[in-house]
Formats: sequence, structure tokens, C-alpha cells
Amino acid sequence: MKFYVTTPIFYINAKPHIGHVYTAIAADVLARWHRSKQDDVLFSTGTDENSQKNVEAAKTANQDIAVFVDDMADTWENTFKELGISHDFFVRTTSPEHHQAVTALLNLIETHGDIYLGDYQGLYCEGSEDFVNESDLVNGLCPNSNKPPKKITEQNYFFKLSNYRDRLLEHYQKNPDFVQPESARKEIISYIEHELADISISRQAQEWGIRLPQDSEHAVYVWFDALINYLTVAGFPADEAKFKRYWPADVHLIGKDIIKFHGAIWPAMLMAADLPLPKKVFAHGFFTIDGQKISKSLGNAIDPIALAKEYPFDAIRYYLLRDIPFGNDGDFSPQRLLDRYNADLANGLGNLVSRTLNMIEQYWPDYDGSGDTPAQVEELLATVDPQLNQLAFDKALSAIWQSLTWADERIEQTKPWELAKAGDTKALQDVLAQLFLTLVAANEKLGPIMPKTHVKLEQLLNDRPIKKPTEPLFARKNRL
Ligand code: MSP
Repeated sequence: MKFYVTTPIFYINAKPHIGHVYTAIAADVLARWHRSKQDDVLFSTGTDENSQKNVEAAKTANQDIAVFVDDMADTWENTFKELGISHDFFVRTTSPEHHQAVTALLNLIETHGDIYLGDYQGLYCEGSEDFVNESDLVNGLCPNSNKPPKKITEQNYFFKLSNYRDRLLEHYQKNPDFVQPESARKEIISYIEHELADISISRQAQEWGIRLPQDSEHAVYVWFDALINYLTVAGFPADEAKFKRYWPADVHLIGKDIIKFHGAIWPAMLMAADLPLPKKVFAHGFFTIDGQKISKSLGNAIDPIALAKEYPFDAIRYYLLRDIPFGNDGDFSPQRLLDRYNADLANGLGNLVSRTLNMIEQYWPDYDGSGDTPAQVEELLATVDPQLNQLAFDKALSAIWQSLTWADERIEQTKPWELAKAGDTKALQDVLAQLFLTLVAANEKLGPIMPKTHVKLEQLLNDRPIKKPTEPLFARKNRL
């Protein structure tokens, strides 16, 4: 089976923060999980470069925009690489392949008669690169950036989005899982029912950006251009074999702030070009940091690379996916990260590994690792795959940790050291094998979520004779 998963492409007016990396972590887990099932995976991420935000940022940095986006795209790509994100494709919207895809898609939409020239008079929010209504404003300011909107009066090309209202609603009715979770689905259906109108797809007199094939005086509206990245990655239009192989995407992972674009505009664009729609759009929540919105002015954006120097990146992956049910809003709390690290990783998994291997080395040095996974553990771990399939990462992790707790309780109940003292070899070996095989089974499920830990633990578990680890899997941390 093939599996094509995407993250949004990121604005590169600033460096990545932990909120951006969150989407990439979730996509990475899914990609690794599907690879482990031998699926033919395409996992894409990349940068949204034709935005006015980037132009402004380049000006502030006193740099040529082309140089600026090259540098920033490198920074983003290197960040993901350094963190071990396993994307197969890093798409840049200033690349020639992407230009080609945008031009081809716009031509297809035009053939359908869905593009027309009109006058746009209204408001524009540069922060979210969105045309907005008065009613969207909060105290007269753009809802996402808290900055005043720009008033625009210009001739624009429009996409007849309103033509697709009924087809979109029908698609939602027939495919109840198309947009998840339910809160995002409700929001988008209400938007389609009440607000859907034609959208401007070009900006006049904008130098930076892809030229509209219909009129080179215009730049393609950046969201229209950005959404098409998902086709570019799949080889559209030049590589037909690749496109056949991977399109439609299996899941677009996005944050809930950009649901309107992915749940209404994007499917309508594809309908207008007679292309198949993605199978699923999953919108995760937003998280605050210690209760506060991540913002430049507060200076509270957490640099993922700096954080990954304090904690193994697997621990950060674990904390984010375990603590915030995927799809809900949440809070990133450095204190909770520390607490979870110590309780679940150092004292939990790490301690169980060292106790188990230590006891085997001491009491049963020629154990070869054979035997069956305990039934209780098998039952618990059987829920992990279905949970991953639902993107319920917190529940998948909780099932894995329940199996570890089961093993901890076995130690407390059976006290292997007392069995050894009493010379009850059979009972002793039974429990040691149970512990060991629990670790083997749990580690198999951990692979996509905590890939480095998985490899380390696999080495320890495959080593013969089985030896206690020379250093802890996770060293306890005392203070922030
Ligand atoms: N460029 C557009 C996406 C185009 S996709 C065709 C964009 N870029 S972004 O850089 O602003 O955001 C990218 C992703 O990061 C979004 O999915 C957004 O939801 C996510 N996050 C940004 N801050 C976040 C949090 N504080 N919490 C969770 N996710 C966050 O939008």
C-alpha cells in the first residue's frame, strides 16, 4: 500500500519554533509507522516562500529576498534534519517544479471556466495572508496577528469557489471522516454553508511570487500557490507515473488555524481541475507555552534545536504526543516535560529496562530471549495500531506504558530476588522471561514514536548474553 502524508509548508519569515515542529513530529510518526508495515511512503514538508511576510522579513533583515528565502529554507530543512524528521521530500515554492505545477493547475481550472477578472475591495490580513471580512476582525484587528488589516482596492482574478458549495457539502456528507476531528469538521461545514464566496486568487502589482499564467501583471495569491505544493511533491504535472502512484494524499496534517484553506478551498480547486481529493485532512490544536500564546513580542517561542540539547528529542516527542490529545488545544509546560521525563522515561521505561536486564544477568545469564509475550501485554499492545490509525497518539502511548506498568507490578508481586533466594528457579525464570518479552513487545510499538530509543533498546535486547546496560536509557534530571 502507498501512504502519502504531508505537513503544511511553513512561512519562513522566522525560525521554526516548537509549534511548527509539532506537526512535523506527528507526520513523522505516521510515516515511520507505515514504513514499518512496508508501505510505500511519501512524507513531505517544506517552505511557503512566496508570501509577503517573507518579503517584509527580508527587508527588516536588510537582505535581498531571494537570498533571504534560500538561507531560511536551509535553516528550516536543517532543523528538521537535525531533529531526525524523516521526510522524503522538502518542497520549496520558489522551485521550478512548483512553478510548473501552479501554472498547470491554474490552466486546468481556467479550462473549466472557473477563473474570472473582477474588482476586489476589502480587507487583507498579511499575518495570515488572508482576505477577511469586517466581521472577522477582533477589535478592528486581524484575529491571528493582532495587526490592522490593509484596505485593498484592485482588479483581481477570482476563482468561482461558490460554484462548489453543493459539491463540497455532498462530499462532507458522503465522507464523514474527510475532515477530523469533529470540531474541525463542524467548523468547516458551517463555513461552507454560510460564508463560502468566490475568492481572489491574484494580487496586482506584487513583484514577489509566481506569475499568474493568465496575466503576468499579477502574482498568484500565496495561499492558492501554497496549497498546490501537495501536487508538486506528488510529481504533478510532469511525472505521471509518480503522480499515479501517490496521489491522492492519504492525510494532510494541519493546525486548526488553516482548516478553511484545506477543508474548503483546496478540495474545490481539485474539483475544478477534475483531480481526486485527498482522503483525509486532520487538524491538530494549538498549544500555548506555560499558558501564553506563542508570540514574537513575548519572546516565548521555544527553539526546538535548543530544547533538543536539553532533552533527547525522543523525550520531546513523547511529551508532546502523550500530554496533548492530538486534535485538542493544549499547553507546553517545561515543568510538565521535566516531570514526565523523570516519571515516565527515567523512572518508568529506563528503570524497568535496567532492573530487568540486571536481574537476567544476575539470575539467568544463559537466557536466550525466547518465549511468548504475556497475554495481558499482548492485549494491551494490540490497541496501539488502531490508535495510531486514528492519530490518537496519546492513547497509543498510554497503552504502551500500561504494559510497562504491568511488568513493574509483576516485579513487585513476585519479588524475583526472593524467588532466587528460595531456589524457585522455574518461577524465577518465568517472571524474568515475562519482563523481558514485555520489553521486546513494547519496544516494537515504540519504534515510530521514539525511533532513537527504539534502536538503543533493540541493541540491548538483542545482545547475547543479555547484559545490564552500562548507562541509563534516560538519565534522571533534577531541576529545570
Ligand atoms: N504557510 C502556511 C501553510 C500553508 S500549507 C499549504 C502556514 N504556515 S505557518 O508557518 O504559519 O504554520 C504552519 C503550521 O504550524 C500550521 O499548521 C500551524 O497550525 C502550526 N503551528 C504554528 N504555531 C502553532 C502552535 N502554537 N501550536 C500548534 N501548532 C502551531 O500557516
